[in-house]
Amino acid sequence: MRILIKGGTVLSTTGVAEADVLVDGETIAAVAAPGVLEQADTVLDATGRYVLPGGIDAHTHMEMPFGGTFSADTFETGTRAAAWGGTTTVIDFAVQAKGTSLMSTLDKWHEKADGDCAIDYGFHMIVSDVNDATLKEMESCVDAGVSSFKMFMAYPGVFYSTDGEILRAMQKATDTGSMIMMHAENGIAIDQLVAQALAEGRGEPVQHGLTRPPELEGEATSRAITLAKVTGAPLYIVHLSAAQALAAVAGARNEGQNVFAETCPQYLYLSIEDLAKPDFEGAKYVASPPLRPKEHQRDLWRGLRTNDLSVVSTDHCPFCFKDQKELGRGDFAKIPNGMPGVEHRMDLLHQGVVAGEISLARWVETCSTTPARMFGLYPRKGVIAPGSDADIVLYDPAAEQTISARTHHMAVDYSAYEGMRITGTVTTVLSRGRIIVDGGEYHGSAGHGRFLTRDLCQYLN
Ligand code: URP
Ligand code: ZN
Ligand code: ZN
Repeated sequence: MRILIKGGTVLSTTGVAEADVLVDGETIAAVAAPGVLEQADTVLDATGRYVLPGGIDAHTHMEMPFGGTFSADTFETGTRAAAWGGTTTVIDFAVQAKGTSLMSTLDKWHEKADGDCAIDYGFHMIVSDVNDATLKEMESCVDAGVSSFKMFMAYPGVFYSTDGEILRAMQKATDTGSMIMMHAENGIAIDQLVAQALAEGRGEPVQHGLTRPPELEGEATSRAITLAKVTGAPLYIVHLSAAQALAAVAGARNEGQNVFAETCPQYLYLSIEDLAKPDFEGAKYVASPPLRPKEHQRDLWRGLRTNDLSVVSTDHCPFCFKDQKELGRGDFAKIPNGMPGVEHRMDLLHQGVVAGEISLARWVETCSTTPARMFGLYPRKGVIAPGSDADIVLYDPAAEQTISARTHHMAVDYSAYEGMRITGTVTTVLSRGRIIVDGGEYHGSAGHGRFLTRDLCQYLN
């Protein structure tokens, strides 16, 4: 089956080009000047549209156990929603429970995802029980295509690791060339602030933000960078939200350290004012790190332009308002942490292009090409080039849409961006050469998505 995508504007990290794209089977066969390629079974007219590599969301949590419940999207519903929004690869997190092994965890996550995904997927491993056996198993994970390990400086008693444990895992990361991904918030200090707030009867959702000040993200980020420097480990700061943390990352990068960071659309568009919405509405916006005062957004957009923030992921971790977020009425510490977003990352960052915050090239780079290179998927993913997987999005930059829970495809009963007007929309999505979204219709299927074994990060010096 050969598909010719004709008349579009092909986007890449170096800019835009008028070109036609020929897909043969699951891969891209050719990219050529308009009109040169002729033979195909199907022709997609991309006139007036961008043709870009499918989005890669390197941070999602489908069916994640958290706070006594599970995130609401399954691998089936979450990857379908991702496809609707122009994301053709997700990298999700397998979660090691204390007392269990990494490889049994990986098996469990394969069981969850196998046969269910609409698009290709990989895994990172959350390490929450550092011991000799776990450290040895990090080698097996890398061999199995799981080349990145998330650790937590937050959530004492759940996912938290001490500095000593982090140091040991980082030493193993250095040995294996793998990446340590860090949830950088000082959880020990935060837990004291949370206990004080609750003791004083301050239980409403905004307290989630007030008890996790940006300084404690900055401090933890600096500490993680120091531990990475001592051990030589590559470090990737996940869901960076605060100007203080960004300054620490920029400083380390200026010194040539292998330190990278991502931010998420919620930190670019939403703020602590959303957490302060009355009638428990703020619970919809509870995630960690928390939404910050608006001033931080300016710094984050600048970080995206300067590449101190290299990737935009969603940290998609949806919990329904009803029955799940409601677990924390009166006690914000019991609100499951996480927000939905996998469906709207490409649109929200395109909105950044419309607003003049980033260029088209940077849109593609932060949402597709860099995550592919960061997590060992390039050039199979993240680029429109001969030989690459035919994961391709056709995007109408002029179409208008309004984000709403009434029309989104995520299995969650609210949208964090309800009513937001967006310029631009996905019209067609190909996953490995198959048209899975076109003209407002879904043609994909559970099980089309395959597990991706990943190589090491391609940015290390
Ligand atoms: O609040 C969040 N971010 N929930 C998902 C788990 C994590 O820390 O990434
Ligand atoms: Zn985290
Ligand atoms: Zn996360």
